[in-house]
Amino acid sequence: MNRLLGYGSVEDRWGSRASETEALELRGVEKSFKKRRGETVRALDSVSFAVGKGEVVGILGPNGSGKSTLVRIVSTLVVPDAGTVEVFGVDAVRHPKVVQRCMNRVSVEASFFKKLSAMENLLYGAKLYGVTSREARPRIAEILENVGFARKRALEPMEHLSRGMQQKIALARALLTSPVLMLLDEPTTGLGPRSKKDVQGFIRRIKGEHDSSILLCTHDMDEAEELCDRIGIMVDGRIVALDEPEALKRRYAAGAETPTLEETFMTATGLSVEEASAEGEE
Ligand SMILES: Nc1ncnc2c1ncn2[C@@H]1O[C@H](COP(=O)(O)OP(=O)(O)OP(=O)(O)O)[C@@H](O)[C@H]1O
Ligand SMILES: [Mg+2]
Repeated sequence: MNRLLGYGSVEDRWGSRASETEALELRGVEKSFKKRRGETVRALDSVSFAVGKGEVVGILGPNGSGKSTLVRIVSTLVVPDAGTVEVFGVDAVRHPKVVQRCMNRVSVEASFFKKLSAMENLLYGAKLYGVTSREARPRIAEILENVGFARKRALEPMEHLSRGMQQKIALARALLTSPVLMLLDEPTTGLGPRSKKDVQGFIRRIKGEHDSSILLCTHDMDEAEELCDRIGIMVDGRIVALDEPEALKRRYAAGAETPTLEETFMTATGLSVEEASAEGEE
């Protein structure tokens, strides 16, 4: 029997558990959407890749290339038309409830009860995963301390916190379950430079200190290069390249004076970084 299906005690959930399976594995995933005028958009076209345990995989891609659809499918909010998605070896389409317990999605605008404090939101988050306040409190304190979040501020209403601090709490909430697959859909988009650095620092610490696997969609080349073990480039619903940053640069930007990820992205997608995240598109 798969370990996750036998999911029992809190220790199981929060302790580290060895498994040979990948944290996430997609095979031939397809998704199309019908548009108003009867057209069909192929949001995902034969997407296959895996995220290893403890690995950070980034996905870079222009607006509308399918990144958020990918994240929504993995988080079981959207059902794929074809293909398989496995989270820690469990089929996400057939067992959404089981896989939901060991992953968390943090998107651009995390949702909270704004009048409640960060601590109350975190306790509520834990409760959704079947963890009592008594069990959750020490775990929350540990996470907040690890990421340098002042405990006093955790007692203020969420709406008093900056957006960067709110994103940190969203990430902390995602760490309440373990082993954990974190799905980060543009976690730093729209943040000021200081908050952005803070949140990126938080993700780096999660990577270093927690047994987390991360799928990170971003438009930020530096963020991808700094945080990711491997980077995938997505164009029109297809992953056109997926490799370690240095290998990608060797393949796509070797001819450039200074081989950068930006240069790599432009060669692989045929778009400039500005064109790829142009305002007004989807
Ligand atoms: N619920 C939906 N209904 C109809 N079309 C959709 C839906 N969700 C996504 N799409 C379409 O699927 C394609 C991929 O969208 P998606 O949001 O996954 O892209 P993205 O890479 O996340 O873009 P961005 O960088 O702008 O966030 C787009 O053409 C989009 O219009
Ligand atoms: Mg998106």
